[in-house]
Amino acid sequence: QTAILQTLDASATGTIDDSRQLKVGTTSLASPEGQAVIKAALDSLLSKEMVEYTQITNNLWALTEEGKQIVASGSHEFRVWSALPVAGQPGLSVKDLTSKVGAETVKVGQGRAFKSKWIAKDATGGFVRAVEAPVDETAEQLRTIDSTGTHPGGDAVLKELQKRKLVQTRKQIHYSAKKGPQFATEVKTLETDLTVEMLASGAWEKAAFKQYNFAAKGEPTDGGALHPLLKVREEFRQIFFDMGFTEMPANRFVETAFWNFDAMFVPQQHPARELQDTFYLKSPSKALAPPADYYERVRKTHETGGYGSIGYRAPFSREESDKLLLRTHTTAVSTAMLYELANQPGGFKPAKLFSIDRVFRNEATDATHLAEFHQVEGVVADYDITLGHLIGFMQEFFGRMGNKTLRFKPAYNPYTEPSMEIFSWHEGLGKWIEIGNSGVFRPEMLEPMGLPKGVRVLGWGFSLERPTMIKYKIQDIRTLVGHKTDLGAVKTRPAVRLEKQDD
Ligand code: PHE
Repeated sequence: QTAILQTLDASATGTIDDSRQLKVGTTSLASPEGQAVIKAALDSLLSKEMVEYTQITNNLWALTEEGKQIVASGSHEFRVWSALPVAGQPGLSVKDLTSKVGAETVKVGQGRAFKSKWIAKDATGGFVRAVEAPVDETAEQLRTIDSTGTHPGGDAVLKELQKRKLVQTRKQIHYSAKKGPQFATEVKTLETDLTVEMLASGAWEKAAFKQYNFAAKGEPTDGGALHPLLKVREEFRQIFFDMGFTEMPANRFVETAFWNFDAMFVPQQHPARELQDTFYLKSPSKALAPPADYYERVRKTHETGGYGSIGYRAPFSREESDKLLLRTHTTAVSTAMLYELANQPGGFKPAKLFSIDRVFRNEATDATHLAEFHQVEGVVADYDITLGHLIGFMQEFFGRMGNKTLRFKPAYNPYTEPSMEIFSWHEGLGKWIEIGNSGVFRPEMLEPMGLPKGVRVLGWGFSLERPTMIKYKIQDIRTLVGHKTDLGAVKTRPAVRLEKQDD
C-alpha cells in the first residue's frame, strides 16, 4: 500500500498507468502473483477512498513448448539445413538425415527448407546445403515474441505462428490507478463510530470516517423454523379444509375420564383405563361435574343399557368418571363436540369436523413409540350415512396424499360398530402398513347425547408422527421429538409436499 501511495505522490500526473511497473524496494511485481498482491492493496485503499483504479486485461502472446525449442535450437528447416554438408560434398540420404535430426524434424523441416531454397539435391540424389547462412526467420520472430509478448508484424505474423502451434495467447491483468478523494501518503485508520469521547475531546473534527457499505449482504439472520410435525400437520389441515371440514378446538390436554372414556361407552373396567396405559392427575385429582342429566343417561346406558342395548351390566362409579387424566385420544374432543352439536340452539345440524393435536399414553418409549404424540382425528355427522361413506371418505382423503391403495380390516373399538383398521400399501417397504383406525359410532354413545335417531357419525384417528417419519425418512421417533432432536436439521429440512397424485 505504501509503495502505491508513494508512487502516486511522486508521479507528476498523480497516476500509475501500468501497475506492472511498480516495485517494492527492488522487487518487481510484474508477475501475475505480484499483480494479485497489488489488487489486494488497491482494494483496501479503494475502501478508504485513497485511490481509484481500473483493471486492464491484455492478451499476451507466449511460446508453446515447441516454440521454446525453436528459440533454443532453431526451426525444423534450420536444423535440417545445419545437418547437411556444403555443396560439392557427398549429399545425405533421407535415412542418414533422419538418424541425425529425427523423423519429426525431417518431416516438417525438409519441405520448408526446399521451399526456401536452403537445401538442394546433388547428382546422386543426396541432400546438400544450397545457401551459406540462411536467416532463420521463424526463430527470430519467436525470440521477439518471447521477450515482448507480441510482434511488430502484428496479427499476420502472430496468427500464422499460432496456426503452426508455436505461440498461444495468455491473458494478463494489470491495473491503472489514480489518487482518490482521501489520498494521503500514509494509510489512515478510519473511524467506524462516532463516540462520546470523540465528541467530548473534539477529535471528531479531524477524524476520518469509514464509508457505509450499502452493498454489504450482512449476516444471515437466525430465524425460527417450523418443526417437521407442524409442516406435515399443515398439509393435513389443508386437505381437511379443501374437503369442507371445520377445525375443532383441541387445546385441552387434561380431560375427565368421563369425556375420555364414559361418554364414549368405554366400560369402566376396560384395560385401557389402567394406570400403566393412562396418565392420571394427582392434583387436582377430581374434575368439575359433567351435565347432570347427560351423566345420568350415560350411567344408565353403561349399567343397564337402552337405545337397543343391554349395557355392560357392571357397576358404574362416579369416582371413576371424575378422575382427571391426560387425554389418551383426541376422540375425547370429538365426543364433547358431538354433545355440543346435539345440544346447540336450533338443534343438530350436520357437521364435518377435524383436529390434529397431542395425546398421551403411559407407554415405554422406543424407536416407534412416544408417551405423547399427535392424532389426526375427524368426525362426519349426518343423517343416514353409512360405512360406505366412511370408506369413500378414506379413499378420497388418502388419495389426496397420493395414497391410493387402501385396504380395510374389521376391528374392535368399544365406541364404534362396525370398526375398521385402515391399511395402506407402502411401496418402499413392500408391505401393507396400518395407517389408521375408524368406525361408525355406537348408538349407546350418540343417543344419550340427544342426537336425533337417524343421525350417523363416522369417526377415525391416525397418528401424525407416522406419515412425518415416512416423509422425512426418520428411523427413530426420538430424534423427531424430545431432547435428541437435531435443531439444525429442523431448520434445514425442506417444506413437505405430500406427493399428491392427479386423477
Ligand atoms: N380413538 C381411536 C384411536 O385412538 C381412533 C378412532 C377415532 C377410532 C374415532 C374410531 C373412531 O385409535
